[in-house]
Amino acid sequence: MRAVLTARHRTGDRARPGTTRGLRRWAAPLALVVLALALVGCDAPMSTSEIEGSWNKEVWKPYWVILILAGIVFVVIMAATLVLPLMYRERPGREARQIHGNTKFEVVWTIIPVAIVLIMMVPTLDSVFKLDEKPPANALKVEVIGHQWWFEFRYPDLDVVTANELHVPEGRVVDYALRSVDVIHSFWVPQLAGKVDMVPGRDNRMAFSALRARAEPYLGQCAEFCGTSHANMRFRVFVHTAEDFDRWAKAEAADRVSSVSRTAEEAFLAAPCLGCHTVRGTDAAGIAGPDLTHIGARTTIGSGLLDNTPAELKRWIANSPAVKPGSKMPPMAQSAGGTLTDEQINVIIGYLQSLK
Ligand code: CUA
Repeated sequence: MRAVLTARHRTGDRARPGTTRGLRRWAAPLALVVLALALVGCDAPMSTSEIEGSWNKEVWKPYWVILILAGIVFVVIMAATLVLPLMYRERPGREARQIHGNTKFEVVWTIIPVAIVLIMMVPTLDSVFKLDEKPPANALKVEVIGHQWWFEFRYPDLDVVTANELHVPEGRVVDYALRSVDVIHSFWVPQLAGKVDMVPGRDNRMAFSALRARAEPYLGQCAEFCGTSHANMRFRVFVHTAEDFDRWAKAEAADRVSSVSRTAEEAFLAAPCLGCHTVRGTDAAGIAGPDLTHIGARTTIGSGLLDNTPAELKRWIANSPAVKPGSKMPPMAQSAGGTLTDEQINVIIGYLQSLK
């Protein structure tokens, strides 16, 4: 035994300098990775542990109970796993203690887990039923329609149709009707609520409120694989005070108001855009793509992929599949196989940006 130990020790001695040098070499990059991960963890726009919506608030009630109970179970089981084998191990003159068939133990370790599960069940069921409750009569109705690869939002009572940027008032329950026109998508705003699938031919529902108004939007994401650009199917949720929301809804319900010349609108209406897009108050009444009546008021385009700036709009209109793989909007620029000249695209961009 001693010989083996000494031999091992010697090998260790010889290996140690190399190992230390190896460790030193990796220490700096490792520390950087850990620091980067820690920093990334600080900003968590897609974290479900933020409680910014009534749904998440409800889910966290049983979550705490389960977390604490699971923590206690973890500590007790780990301690027992380490301590008991040492306490009852075989010793000189003593066999390891056998407890197989001990009725008292069997009863105790059946009753305790059953009790734990029952304790967890009470707040869990309570939350499940609360989340399933019918929304109140004054709930704001929003239809969310999934398309490959963007979200359409309709407010049937307000006569508002928009895309990829959902606006809601703080504290008011929103009654969401979730649908899809093609494949299964999933509606998910991690900081506000859990995810619910959007299934073609079927209305799924969920209701929750956003707890507070804030300048920064919440990020949403399709959470069901739905094809090439599933990862690029994003949306934003803007939470306003009641007055700001009413102001927004009123502006959105109006027909287009364009500050640019009639010629720009005519150029837009002469382009292929109107086959798929609607601009209320004009002949453009397509429904395959997002409603553009107030596109100038949105912060992003391409389902949250690009900022709504003239340069990004140009990239998007010129060749959208090059920006977003699988995009159903064909390239428009002549240089990419479309029909529009650079000049025409610039005029259309000016027009779209003016549609506030
Ligand atoms: Cu839609 Cu994934």
